[in-house]
Amino acid sequence: MKLYHELAEYYFAIEEAHRNIQADLSLIRTITGANPDPTILDLGCGTGEHLGMLASRGFRCTGIDSSEDMLAIAGKRNQSPSISFLRQDMLSFDYYEQFDIVTCLFGSFDYLLDDADVDKVLWNTWRALKPGGAALFEVWNANPVREISSKPMSTVSMIRYKDRNIERRRGFALLTSAPRTIVEVRYVYLVACGDRSDTLRDKHVMRAFDRKEIERFVADNGFALKGMYSNSALDPYKDTSNKIIVHFVKE
Ligand SMILES: C[S@@+](CC[C@H](N)C(=O)[O-])C[C@H]1O[C@@H](n2cnc3c(N)ncnc32)[C@H](O)[C@@H]1O
Repeated sequence: MKLYHELAEYYFAIEEAHRNIQADLSLIRTITGANPDPTILDLGCGTGEHLGMLASRGFRCTGIDSSEDMLAIAGKRNQSPSISFLRQDMLSFDYYEQFDIVTCLFGSFDYLLDDADVDKVLWNTWRALKPGGAALFEVWNANPVREISSKPMSTVSMIRYKDRNIERRRGFALLTSAPRTIVEVRYVYLVACGDRSDTLRDKHVMRAFDRKEIERFVADNGFALKGMYSNSALDPYKDTSNKIIVHFVKE
């Protein structure tokens, strides 16, 4: 996936307009409450923006990601003795310490296509949490994806990053809607600098989840579900919302 390799330096700038990082941070802070020394593990941490900001608010942070290129940018942009970035797969990570909160944000979880992989990551999460610890995961909602089913390639964003103009085009097609909702998302990036322009084509195969699937996965892996929301500002869950924010705890 070129977005996490060749395009890693631009990843956050490309996605930034569609996000509310401050709301994510407030929610993480609310969930960890008055803990004076909170610890966080971020699965699929990407270029580390959440952890960079949380470290400056007193969190001790560990971020794992499978992409060396994303981690290289994360390490350069977020230099703090309170953060460790590690190259690990969330399917097989192991820890010698337990955390107050485990997060998996902005769709990193959607790359887990099979039920067995979802269970593995939730089991690893369970083991990585302190008793009473919380998890906050953000996944794609299957309902709108099934409804829309496909979209032709069209321009979805244009950004300026340093001396580059980057246009992103996107199209998608539903591959299966049951028992799992799997989508193939195709992207074209046009990266222009002066009179030079590069075209990069990218393809991501991702899973979206519905409310019932989430409830089942959370319960099957020994967690208690605390809430499902449309976004990290905690607007109530709706079948039409693109994302589901899931808050669950290890009791
Ligand atoms: C859409 S980005 C999200 C990054 C970050 N959480 C954020 O909020 O910007 C998805 C990230 O998940 C990582 N990823 C995908 N599958 C993974 C896996 N099995 N283990 C660890 N990281 C993974 C990718 O390398 C990528 O950095």
